[in-house]
Amino acid sequence: MKHIVEQLDQRRAEARLGGGERRIAAQHTRGKLTARERIELLLDDGSFEEFDSFVEHRCTDFGMEKARIPGDGVVTGWGTVNGRQVFVFAKDFTVFGGSLSETHAAKITKIQDMALKTRSPIIGLFDAGGARIQEGVAALGGYGEVFKRNVVASGVIPQISVIMGPCAGGDVYSPAMTDFIFMVRDTSYMFVTGPDVVKTVTNETVTAEELGGAKVHTTKSSVADGAFDNDVECLLQIRRLIDFLPANNASGVPEWPHHDAGERLDPSLDTLIPDHPNKPYDIKELVAKVVDEGDFFEIQESFARNIVTGFGRIEGRTVGVVANQPMVLAGVLDADASRKAARFVRFCDAFEIPIVTFVDVPGFLPGTSQEYGGLIKHGAKLLFAYSEATVPLVTVITRKAFGGAYDVMASKHVGGDVNYAWPSAQIAVMGAKGAVEIIFRADIDDPEKIAARTREYEERFLSPFVAAERGYIDEVIAPRSTRKRIARALAMLRSKHVETPAKKHDNLPL
Ligand code: HXC
Repeated sequence: MKHIVEQLDQRRAEARLGGGERRIAAQHTRGKLTARERIELLLDDGSFEEFDSFVEHRCTDFGMEKARIPGDGVVTGWGTVNGRQVFVFAKDFTVFGGSLSETHAAKITKIQDMALKTRSPIIGLFDAGGARIQEGVAALGGYGEVFKRNVVASGVIPQISVIMGPCAGGDVYSPAMTDFIFMVRDTSYMFVTGPDVVKTVTNETVTAEELGGAKVHTTKSSVADGAFDNDVECLLQIRRLIDFLPANNASGVPEWPHHDAGERLDPSLDTLIPDHPNKPYDIKELVAKVVDEGDFFEIQESFARNIVTGFGRIEGRTVGVVANQPMVLAGVLDADASRKAARFVRFCDAFEIPIVTFVDVPGFLPGTSQEYGGLIKHGAKLLFAYSEATVPLVTVITRKAFGGAYDVMASKHVGGDVNYAWPSAQIAVMGAKGAVEIIFRADIDDPEKIAARTREYEERFLSPFVAAERGYIDEVIAPRSTRKRIARALAMLRSKHVETPAKKHDNLPL
């Protein structure tokens, strides 16, 4: 028996070495950790249980029969993050560049199936070159199996992808179908085809960083939801994200101990809004002052910064926050902001995370570039997302809520459950100047008349009271009491239950 156990230890040690010492050293030289080191950082100490460490590929083409490495380029299993169960797979770049073979795919699908069966989140750590070229269609078939499971699990369990090296082909398409993608700055890249293929096909010379680095995907393409400086920081932040997320779509949000009273008042909020209506202020200050202990995990921080999305907690329970940002483009809704917020709202709704919306929006951004870029369709995505949401929706209008953007931003009319406004709120079809120039066009050459009309319009419409008189706003609240009001509203809404007509699925404007 001793001999047999020794053999097991030896085989395990061999499997742990992956592609060998030389390739592990190369991985470290590039500033990257190995698949196993990454899993150790991601999971609670000693909680990792590995599956399939002895699986090998069965390919015999191109001399592959002599190149079998136990584990076959991916480490899979489960463990815990702060005591909560998650499934994980980590691509091992030291083994055939982490590329996916038929057996490698079977290891991943086994984990995907287990995660779905047990309704636990799944995290993929990617550092891999796509389909294993030597395996041809067997590898493509393997990806198909992974993709299909990504879609079946979508909206049932959270799926998180972390890009930690050069990734191509299926190793970007599978992440693209998950809920969140995070990258590591300077060491991770995502592209369907790499710089060499780009050069051959389009004659374009481009570096990996320019084609698919973290900067490109967090600021331009919006493929990635965030980026971190190195592997360690990235994995610690993923642990933080997991703490915010429910285990599945039926578990409800996690409830953590908190040391911040729901009833806490914040008098500094009474002076957050500047005197001049066009002067910006930082909406993130309001978010930080409302959520528990100022702890806010922002999603897509560097993209469409005119809208802020992310997770916080109120009385220990996760909420999704959506907020127009007056500091960037005056908080206007454009195509990018609408898409960004719509996807976030849909994630929250799918996973029963209540949504708190802070509104200060001058309207939709006019112009040919927006219209040609499909603003109508993209704006409709956010309108659609809020309108179909059945999770608790609590909305606070801090200043402007103009035009269609008033309707879109979780107004009463599209399903807002509790809608508050600060006394500084201005709820109208448009600002005073534009409105007066249209409805009093005949007086346009008489500055005195125009000034009087503008004052009249401002007094009548640029306040929360016209909406409050109609019940579109449930109450005009003191800014200092915002957290308290939201906490009470969310507590009241915990038993919210909405029946919607049966349908196969909706037809979101894509
Ligand atoms: C087999 C691969 C591989 C692959 C890399 N390797 N990709 N082996 N199949 N797809 C191997 C290399 O041969 C090398 O082996 C080792 O991994 C490290 O690769 P390098 O090229 O030396 O590393 P680097 O310079 O960092 O470049 C990484 C890379 C590049 C950008 C990922 O390797 C690359 O472009 N690979 C091909 C990407 C690709 O086109 N994949 C197919 C996608 S199609 P040695 O032994 O030399 O160390 C696909 C279909 C899915 O995935 C369907 C989508 C809808």
